[in-house]
Amino acid sequence: MIFFKYCALILFNLFTLINSHTYEIYDIPKIFEILHHSCFVGFNVAELKTYGSIKDLSNIYQDDNVTVGLFNVSGFELWPNGQKVDQNMFMSSFVAIEKINLDRSCLLMPSHVFASPKPVPYKGIMSLNYLVEFINSLCSTFRQVDGTLDAKGKRKESILRDVYKVTGRTIEELYKKYPNSLNAHFVRADQMNNEMSQCEIYNKPPSAKEFFDKFLTKSKPVIFKGLANNWKALEDWKNNYIREKLSNQVVHIKLTPKGDFEGVESAKLWEDYESLEIPEKVRKQLEFPDLVVVRPAPANMKMKEFLDIIEYTGSLKNYTMRNISAYMEYSSISEYMPDMLNYIEEPEFIKEYLDKEHTNSWLSDGHTIGRLHFDPYDNLLCQVSGTKQVILFEPWDNENLYESHIIQGSLSFDRKVKKFRRKSRDDSTSMVMSPVDVKKPDFTKFPNFAKTRPLNCTISRGDVLYMPSFWWHEVNSMPNITEKRNLAVNFW
Ligand SMILES: *[C@@H]1O[C@H](CO)[C@@H](O)[C@H](O)[C@H]1NC(C)=O
Ligand SMILES: *[C@@H]1O[C@H](CO)[C@@H](O)[C@H](O)[C@H]1NC(C)=O
Ligand SMILES: *[C@@H]1O[C@H](CO)[C@@H](O)[C@H](O)[C@H]1NC(C)=O
Ligand SMILES: *[C@@H]1O[C@H](CO)[C@@H](O)[C@H](O)[C@H]1NC(C)=O
Ligand SMILES: *[C@@H]1O[C@H](CO)[C@@H](O)[C@H](O)[C@H]1NC(C)=O
Ligand SMILES: *[C@@H]1O[C@H](CO)[C@@H](O)[C@H](O)[C@H]1NC(C)=O
Repeated sequence: MIFFKYCALILFNLFTLINSHTYEIYDIPKIFEILHHSCFVGFNVAELKTYGSIKDLSNIYQDDNVTVGLFNVSGFELWPNGQKVDQNMFMSSFVAIEKINLDRSCLLMPSHVFASPKPVPYKGIMSLNYLVEFINSLCSTFRQVDGTLDAKGKRKESILRDVYKVTGRTIEELYKKYPNSLNAHFVRADQMNNEMSQCEIYNKPPSAKEFFDKFLTKSKPVIFKGLANNWKALEDWKNNYIREKLSNQVVHIKLTPKGDFEGVESAKLWEDYESLEIPEKVRKQLEFPDLVVVRPAPANMKMKEFLDIIEYTGSLKNYTMRNISAYMEYSSISEYMPDMLNYIEEPEFIKEYLDKEHTNSWLSDGHTIGRLHFDPYDNLLCQVSGTKQVILFEPWDNENLYESHIIQGSLSFDRKVKKFRRKSRDDSTSMVMSPVDVKKPDFTKFPNFAKTRPLNCTISRGDVLYMPSFWWHEVNSMPNITEKRNLAVNFW
């Protein structure tokens, strides 16, 4: 009885009549527009009695991306993307439509696949409580009727509040003060008066719980100093040993002219600049049609040939003069050097919370740069030989790093004349490379990059870097001087 009384009170509120002209009426094109950045919830314009609650709902959802209004979709057969409007879905006093989540993995999908509004009619009692519940479930919001967050929402908020953020100097501040330091291959702290933010360093292995609480849930990068110091690989897997053991093993490697791996350059440099026809549908979605992500030239060769290149020895001596750089990057250890697995050790503390999907080796002469990109994996990067200066940027910086689809092209390498060619670009795009050149940023073209805050995480022999998924990183490798190489192992 009491429940119904309460309910009736709220219903009374809902039925308060308010002049419809004070509210915006959304037709199909307007709704479609809204859905690109907001959820839409609306009352049927034909049912005047419900107008009162628009104000209530607007207040409740003022801090969320929820647009509250009236809808009148009569007379529309198609959404602006050509898809049919299902009028049945609008035969209701109240309708919610979730924000359109663009599936950006493929730019050539038919437009209705990645932008199809899905109106859901509300069938329940017209009470504010129930409407709020309905909206929460469709719009991924966590409001209560009084506008405060519910328990789930509070938990989400506290997780977001706790997430690690780099607080040091912005890249703009650093460039202004130290214009000539940041473009070096290895940027030294003393050249910038220790003003770049530094990775946390942990001197003892954490417990699984510690790792979970302090780093995994906070998405915080950290260096575990010397964690891999007692790996047998450090002493035993020298190049000579690899050469002896795996001489004729065929390995898949990557070649570039100057040690620059997967940078972004002008499309004009490519031989197909004039001829490549990019479908209009794709071109329209490219923010930087003038740029190309340069993939290195792939090559299969025997391990001994690869080692010849990175050691500048044998008949391949003249490959070098730093005009060709070979990298065995993200190369599966179980596929190419299975025996090495006995010489390394996956740290105990990650096993409880992270599933290992890949174990890779990274071997080069130590003069390489892996340009700014992100990976969708949590990464444990373990240094065996040499040093890697990894400069990281937060995942929250996606927009400031101009994340978008960029056309990619793979270099080809002609072994006879030992020359690279930029023959033709691929008909695929990359979404994980930033077009910004960290070493020589163009602040005119990429003004938002100025706001980002770099984090220096530099690891040497025996150190392990935990890099949470989606953190952007540029990896500058340096050789161990005596071993003349850089070798790392990573767990994804
Ligand atoms: C809804 O739109 C139709 C078609 O444009 C129009 O004829 C009708 O008057 C509108 N209804 C209301 C209540 O505004
Ligand atoms: C609302 O959407 C904008 C643009 O998509 C986004 O930047 C913002 O974080 C969103 N706000 C909330 C509260 O979700
Ligand atoms: C980055 O960290 C390494 C290792 O601690 C240090 O040698 C180097 O000077 C640091 N560079 C900057 C720019 O802070
Ligand atoms: C390397 O190049 C130099 C000059 O270009 C040439 O004289 C020499 O014979 C070459 N060596 C090999 C091993 O190809
Ligand atoms: C290698 O690069 C250097 C500098 O860019 C250039 O002077 C030299 O001619 C190149 N050598 C070969 C063999 O292409
Ligand atoms: C370089 O490698 C040698 C072993 O070959 C090792 O003794 C030395 O400590 C390494 N140097 C650095 C700076 O890691």
